[in-house]
Order: sequence, then structure tokens, then C-alpha cells
Amino acid sequence: MTKSAQPLVIQSNVSAPKPMAVDGDGIYITLEDPITKERTTLIDGSTGAAVGAVGHKDPEIIEAMKHAAETSVYNYPGAISNYPSEELAEFLVQNSPKDAFAAVLITGSGSESVENALKLAKQYQDEIGQTQRYKFVSRKKTYHGYTMGCLSMGHNPRRTRFDKFLGDPKTFLKTEAVYPYRDLKEGETLEQYKDRLVKDVEDTFIANDPSTIVGWLGETVVGSTFGTCPPVPGYLEGVREVCHKYGILFMLDEVMSGIGRCGTFHAWEQYLPENQGPDIQTIGKTLGSGYVTIAAVLVSPKVKNALTDGSNYIIGAQTYHQHAFNCQVALAVQKKVKRDNLIANMKEQGNYLGAQLKEKLLGKSKIVGDVRGSGGFWSLELVKDTKTKEPFAADLKMHGVVGKQISKNGATSMPCPGTVDNKIGDHVLFAPSFIITREQTDKLIDIVVKSVFEVEEQIGA
Ligand SMILES: Cc1ncc(COP(=O)(O)O)c(C=O)c1O
Repeated sequence: MTKSAQPLVIQSNVSAPKPMAVDGDGIYITLEDPITKERTTLIDGSTGAAVGAVGHKDPEIIEAMKHAAETSVYNYPGAISNYPSEELAEFLVQNSPKDAFAAVLITGSGSESVENALKLAKQYQDEIGQTQRYKFVSRKKTYHGYTMGCLSMGHNPRRTRFDKFLGDPKTFLKTEAVYPYRDLKEGETLEQYKDRLVKDVEDTFIANDPSTIVGWLGETVVGSTFGTCPPVPGYLEGVREVCHKYGILFMLDEVMSGIGRCGTFHAWEQYLPENQGPDIQTIGKTLGSGYVTIAAVLVSPKVKNALTDGSNYIIGAQTYHQHAFNCQVALAVQKKVKRDNLIANMKEQGNYLGAQLKEKLLGKSKIVGDVRGSGGFWSLELVKDTKTKEPFAADLKMHGVVGKQISKNGATSMPCPGTVDNKIGDHVLFAPSFIITREQTDKLIDIVVKSVFEVEEQIGA
């Protein structure tokens, strides 16, 4: 690419060249300036949008990819199946709590998984004779993917331009976000807050004729929209109970927070009893650890049985579903994660990362109002005033300012805007690979803390 050349690949800023990913090694990623050819190696603190599990260029996974290239052939999933997808599905079912899931639909991305989850949910209701159900309920301030169904389910700035041709808001209803840092009222206990949130879900159902609602979908731990916010105790259990009271499916989106990211195979295992999982769940990202484009929908026995006892037929089968090569590679990733206890490592190092960021920044930094997260999924919420929680003006793009400084000091992060209300507010998210060592975690902590204080100085906070 020459100095005057514009990139041909469209992504975010259309005409501006971006750093090119050219190499990687474990938790490190090497970027190259496409014009000057200057290279920088950074700790991959966010692994893109929380994709990394086994780290970059893992020799075992490269070997598995070579083997997969030699042994897999393409098949159209509507007509022919393959062994690698069956093996991956079996791994996912067997490594979930007993009887949580009975079938798996394997897709190419998180958005595809959410779209397919909605369709499976609608088909479930039809198969059991509830054909009048057509509405979905999700939450404010969530991201469920970029396709039209996903944007209709979501509530974030990425949907604004398309609002008029997204699903009718009376069909795609929204309940309150779980955001205690801002929404817990003065004097309110977490228990009271949880009750208020669950009541909001039930009130939304009642106000919109619960017999017409297919399912409720929420991220177990909220990801990019307002920054790695875990549910308050009892919330998911409460919502599950209310869903089932009205015959509504309880669905979780763990594309970003699941498959080890939060320190357990499924994030919900930390918030729900083992035998009270979701009816349908989406996963993605760390499933393939960035080596292949793969995601999935996990289906509970209840939903699978309704399908098999009913029409036993799904009109779906997108061209690249259950892709044999992708499935083989994802299975190699997951087997390595399991053999090397990498989820336990992520939990330990990740919770250390969170605890250290809290200790070093909360009450000491003038611009970090909250540090929240779980396992290997953490965010800093940036504010102008830590006492009043007043956010920075949106045009200051403070998330970007802090993100740039972190990058200058040697790590990647995921800086995000719109934290408070989809318009104002800033947070910076971290989600390293599960292989990170204590020493590397300490390095990441040093870089983040140093960067925050440097930005404070730059802006005269
Ligand atoms: C919770 C959640 N759902 C769905 C998606 C969409 O996944 P993808 O970008 O793979 O389509 C994302 C992506 O960030 C996500 O965080």
C-alpha cells in the first residue's frame, strides 16, 4: 500500500489505512503500519473483541490446522453431514452441566448464531402448538450482532441508522439493563434492585400479552455496550422463573462472555444452579480462538425434544454451517483449553487483573469511576468526576484517548463509547487469552495503570 493509496477493504473508517496484523506469538500480537512498514509488538490485552483463548500462532493448533486441511472436505449441511461437527457438538454437550444441552447448531459467526437462535425459538413454540407467539424480549443497552434480526434484538448505536427497517419495537420489546454502578438507587440493596429488575421483565411480559411472546434473550455478562457487567445475584434465576411461568423461552447470549471467558465453561454456571440452564444459548469467539470463523447455538433437551417430537425438520442449513475444517480446528482449541486447564488459569489471572486494577485505580485515579468484570473479562468505566459519576462529553472520545495511550505503552484494549446511554460515556475493555501468565498479567496491569495516569496528566484532570 503506497502513501496515497486507500484501502480497498471496507471496515470502520473507509479511507483510512489501519494497522495490519502481521504476526503473533502467544499473548503478543505484531502490527505493521502499512505505509511506513514499521512494526510494533503489543500484549494483546483484548484479543480483538474478546476472541482469544489459546493465544496467537500456537504450534499445536497450527499442526491441527494442517491435519484439518488434509482431512476435511466441504459438505452442504442440508444434505450431508461430517464427523468433525458431530465430535465438536459432543464435546460441547459433554462439557456442559449434565443434561443442560442436547443438540448444537454450528454456524460461522456470533450474529448468525443469534439469528438462528431466534428462529429455533420460534420453531419450538410452533412445534408445541404455540403458533400465536411471535414477539421477543431483550434488554436495553445490549449488542447481539450486526445482522438485521440481531440489531432488532440489540439496543446500541450500531442500530440507529437502520431503526426504520428493523423489526417493529412492539415485536422486539426491551427490558431494563442490569447496571448497578449507575442504576442502583440510593439506599436500595442489591436484592431490592434485583427484584425491581425481575419485576420489570414480568411487567413487560404482562403489558404485551405474554401468550404472544416467544423468548427473552440476555447476555449473561454484558460485553461491549457498557463494559463487562455481571448480573446481580438472583437476577438470572428470577428472569428464568418468570419466563417459564408464561411459557416464554429463557435464552442467553454468551457469544462474548462464554466458553471460558468469564472463568467457567459457560458464564451462567456462576449465576444459575447447574440444572437450571438456559433453554437456548449462543456461543462464539473463544470457541475457535480466532483461528477459524465459528460459533454455535446450544439447545436444551426441552427444545430438542419439541423439534424431534414435532416436524423434526429445520429449514436452515446455511452454506458454511458445521464446516468440517472449522469444526476440527475449534475442537483442537477446546481440547487444548481443557487439557491444560486454561479456563482455571484465565479465572485466576483474570480475577487478579480485576482486583489489581481496582486496587490501583479506584479512589486513586480521577477518571476511573468503576472497574467491573469477571474472570478474563474486565472494563474500566471512565468518568469526568468519580464522585458524581458525570461522564465525559462524547466528542472528547475519552475511550479512544485512553485506548491509544495503552497501545502506545504496549498493549491492546477495546475502547468503547456510549457506555451510559448509548450516546455518552466511555469504557475500555480487556479480555486477554487464557494462557496469560502472572508475569504477563502484571505487565498488562502496569501498562493500563500507567496509561490512565498519563492521560489524567495530559487532560489536567
Ligand atoms: C453478545 C454478542 N452477541 C453476538 C455478537 C455477534 O458476533 P459476531 O461479531 O461474531 O457476529 C457479539 C459480538 O461482539 C456479541 O458480543
